[in-house]
Amino acid sequence: MSYILAIETSCDETAAAVLEDGRKVLSSVVGFQWDIHRKYGGVVPELACRRHIEIIHPLTEEAIKKGGITLKDLDAIAVTSSPGLIGALLVGVSFAKALSYSLNIPLISVNHLEGHLWAIFLEKRVPRPFIALVVSGGHTNLYLVEEMGKYKLLGSTLDDAAGEAFDKVARVLGLGFPGGPAIELYGMKGNPDAVAFPRPLSKRKGFDFSFSGMKTAVLSYVRGMYNVAHVDDIPEALTGNDQFKADIAASFQQAIVDVLVSRTIGAAKNTGINRIVISGGVACNKLLRQRMKSDAGQNGMKVYIPSPQYCTDNAAMIAWVGYRYFKKGIYADLTLNPNAGTRIG
Ligand code: KG4
Ligand code: ZN
Repeated sequence: MSYILAIETSCDETAAAVLEDGRKVLSSVVGFQWDIHRKYGGVVPELACRRHIEIIHPLTEEAIKKGGITLKDLDAIAVTSSPGLIGALLVGVSFAKALSYSLNIPLISVNHLEGHLWAIFLEKRVPRPFIALVVSGGHTNLYLVEEMGKYKLLGSTLDDAAGEAFDKVARVLGLGFPGGPAIELYGMKGNPDAVAFPRPLSKRKGFDFSFSGMKTAVLSYVRGMYNVAHVDDIPEALTGNDQFKADIAASFQQAIVDVLVSRTIGAAKNTGINRIVISGGVACNKLLRQRMKSDAGQNGMKVYIPSPQYCTDNAAMIAWVGYRYFKKGIYADLTLNPNAGTRIG
């Protein structure tokens, strides 16, 4: 039996998980910070770090306890060291280093994006190679995954990430934070064809994305309709106009899903690979899950999506990757430092 403890603090979720023999999740605990960031409509890095510091210790104890093991049973500590908010990463890396030193067990450095790429393997095996869309608050990347460590970046966003666009549009409409779930909820009551928002780069070759123009299009549309001078006044101007908000949410969601699905299917066709994995927080979106599956099905492709708890940030996915490095003897040491911007592929 081997037991890996993983720590994840790259953004606004503090997470710890215990994995047995590289496959069985004994515990996966996530501390969300929505209460802190909600009033700002987005993640405030300094506040995120402070909350990580406050809860990382009790949260890790909870993961160990729920896993039914003790610290002495651990064989290695895996930690997300990049990419992410530098201060947030620093909390997890420092904590993991201290634990690894005091328990005298290996420290393993894991890239957050690699965690998202392999999260599906916590639940299912996917034959390789496959096309992977990592779509979250910080990233919108399309990869060709050949095997562990062998990734080709096919395309990525030129500006905002898709989740960031969801968050910003929700903020404009005063729907709450995080924006993705709020837009999804409102969108259920709206008409997705009410407004034809642009689908940026749809005529351009390649597999890059651009989402900042979509947010601006929503903003211009709402300001045009309601003649609001300042963006911060929009939520108040829309008070009581729930159907309008629902129509905008549904139309925006449809536009963003169209872009994500068509680009991903395009990449699969172009490479001749008929397996698609999607992950990251935006992969929780029901419309995206349905549309990706149905469009892929029509093209003879198969789609694999983790259950929502493994789409959003979690430490179980970090443990999965960490175990693979552990088996290969690829260890970090106490000189490990976080890095805000490492890419893979
Ligand atoms: O992967 P994640 O938990 O953290 C990052 O690595 O960024 O993703 C968070 C993002 C947020 O932008 C959030 O609005 C979005 O995922 N999200 C969703 C949904 N649930 C979370 N976006 C659309 N629909 C959802 N249901
Ligand atoms: Zn993430």
